Amino acid sequence: MSDKTVLITDSASAKTSTLPLVSGNMGEPAVDIGKLHKDLGYFTFDPGFVSTASTRSAITFIDGDKGVLLYRGYPIEQLAKQSSFLEVAYLLINGELPTSAQFGAFEDEVTHHTMMQESLKNFLHGFHYDAHPMAMLCGAVASLSAFYHDTLDISDPEQRRLAAIRLIAKVPTIAAAAYRYSIDWPIRYPRNNLEYCTRFLHMMFEVPSEPLQLNPVVAKALDLLFILHADHEQNASTSTVRLVGSTGANPYACVAAGIAALWGPAHGGANEAVLKMLADIGDAKNVGKAVEKAKDKNSGFRLMGFGHRVYKNFDPRATIIRETCHQVLAALGVNDPLLDVALELEQVALKDPYFIERKLYPNVDFYSGIIYKALKIPTEMFTVMFAIARTAGWVAHWLEQHQDKDTKIGRPRQIYTGATTRDYTPITKR
Ligand code: SDX
Repeated sequence: MSDKTVLITDSASAKTSTLPLVSGNMGEPAVDIGKLHKDLGYFTFDPGFVSTASTRSAITFIDGDKGVLLYRGYPIEQLAKQSSFLEVAYLLINGELPTSAQFGAFEDEVTHHTMMQESLKNFLHGFHYDAHPMAMLCGAVASLSAFYHDTLDISDPEQRRLAAIRLIAKVPTIAAAAYRYSIDWPIRYPRNNLEYCTRFLHMMFEVPSEPLQLNPVVAKALDLLFILHADHEQNASTSTVRLVGSTGANPYACVAAGIAALWGPAHGGANEAVLKMLADIGDAKNVGKAVEKAKDKNSGFRLMGFGHRVYKNFDPRATIIRETCHQVLAALGVNDPLLDVALELEQVALKDPYFIERKLYPNVDFYSGIIYKALKIPTEMFTVMFAIARTAGWVAHWLEQHQDKDTKIGRPRQIYTGATTRDYTPITKR
């Protein structure tokens, strides 16, 4: 809490309210409006929470103007180059990078929680073969609480920690099983002798009839994408996890709610929507038309993978993914014409005053789908990839929330625009 304040004066009554400023270690301060209603009788109104901080957090810091992203103080560029997804998951949860002994114990514990209950297979088989994998993942993760009656006491730190481990460990297994069901292949059980991303890829692609030949470039590229998608402070799905968590709901219900929120095309669903958009544009020569359509408010069309609530500069993750695109496609000998469309689209949009004035830049979703496609991940699994990675951030925020003494149930107010009080009219008189 800082000792600085702001003075608000109500021009109608000349009453004033002195409100304290709240500051963190980095970033802009906020006005604590806790006593505004008592002093002046007013609430605040901020649809979409554009200018509203919902909590304190020590996990991730974003400077949207400078295009800075830090996980527990470490720049995303350094973690992308030097870390691994599982080490980043440890960092997000525990606040510090692990020693090799700590990482070994963490990796061993995650590895030995990767199996999903056999009866979950029947649950997945209850879906139609063409069910969207995000629907299957959301339902299956929510159902996990049905298997852990003995460890759902969220007041017990050890049970909270174990739930976090189980979620990080099992979400990839469930995700791969959903995919295998959609192509009518038998599921592959997690292999404990493989590292996290390689294990996932084996569960996704290994066929019963022959061992999977996996190019190491594929697992490394996936690990990088998982690092970049692991957390992003109070984004819509993380805020959803926190809101559900504020009611005391179990962690599996909280993460299932986060998966549901992530699915929206304005959020994590954008990576799937970008590939569809690039395919619809089809050729670099059609890019100009697409940009004009995106500027036309009546078209209802937006450039998917462009714009961001916080970044008013390049999303640093998009910069890393764009560079990785070229490396991965070259290493795999893939020539994807959609990459040319994306590069042309970026060039045209970034020179257009509409996008410049609104500070609309490519975000994390703009290029990620091109890499996923090169890794032979099917388009409808792109947002599932995002969910696997973001599970680390979601559980880190859920754990942080339960250690925060300021946590209370989330319950926003509203501006009522409905009918004023009126008497009931019997149906005979309507
Ligand atoms: C993610 O929050 C996070 O951190 C999310 C995320 C994470 O890691 O968790 O970073 C992941 O969700 C990235 C965003 C993926 N979504 C998309 O790519 C969908 C396309 N983008 C937009 O729908 C939009 O940019 C949002 C949702 C990302 C941000 O929306 P805002 O902050 O509410 O901005 P806005 O809708 O108020 O737009 C401001 C202006 C508007 O024009 P004006 O009314 O001022 O004239 O910019 C325009 C919008 O019409 N605009 C776009 C646009 N995005 C915004 N115009 C065309 N194409 C776009 N993509």
